Amino acid sequence: MTDTLIDTLLTRRSVVARDLCDPGPNESEVKQILAAGHRVPDHGKIGPWRFIIFQNEARATFGQHLADIFAKENPTCGPKVVEFEKERFTRAPLVIAVISSPIEHKVPQWEQELSSGAVCQNMLLAAKALGYGAQWLTEWYAFNKEVDALLSLKENEKVAGFIYIGNYRQAPQERNRPDLNERVSYWNDSESL
Ligand SMILES: Cc1cc2nc3c(=O)[nH]c(=O)nc-3n(C[C@H](O)[C@H](O)[C@H](O)COP(=O)(O)O)c2cc1C
Repeated sequence: MTDTLIDTLLTRRSVVARDLCDPGPNESEVKQILAAGHRVPDHGKIGPWRFIIFQNEARATFGQHLADIFAKENPTCGPKVVEFEKERFTRAPLVIAVISSPIEHKVPQWEQELSSGAVCQNMLLAAKALGYGAQWLTEWYAFNKEVDALLSLKENEKVAGFIYIGNYRQAPQERNRPDLNERVSYWNDSESL
């Protein structure tokens, strides 16, 4: 059976970061994932996002920084927790941080930020199209000033997501989803009075 785009959209699931493994995307596949992320609707043609790539030993180095920050901010936490923090970025062979980078513009900041969300989603789909699993995570370190400094984020910038990408051995099972019917209505003029 051909796997059409609509099939992909209707069956897509994240593969949790702890289930991702080597080998990750090669250089040309990484470029394709970035290009797909970059090709999103973008009011004003601003491109208010940027990417930071974590591969190879950079993942463990960054993890060590995360562990140090976490231990400093949670002085009573035990060594097991610190070890867990240290290994966050080595869960997958590739992690790409998508940074929302809005500018002063007549296009509202909200719209610029929405585009960064679309970047993340396109990257998940590109990873899937290339046969990889992926998960969009923020966790605590997307909301931490010291981590922001490590990533050289400017005042206007925020982490939209860390996209973890890699191979996987077992396809994820379906999960419970919010009821679509409860979320759809048809606007009707008489009801608006
Ligand atoms: C902006 C954003 C941030 C997320 N951050 C986390 C997170 O920190 N931890 C987590 O377990 N899931 C997080 N998720 C959810 C997962 O990416 C994923 O959607 C979920 O694990 C499974 O749903 P799916 O298979 O339908 O994608 C986040 C999702 C979004 C959109």
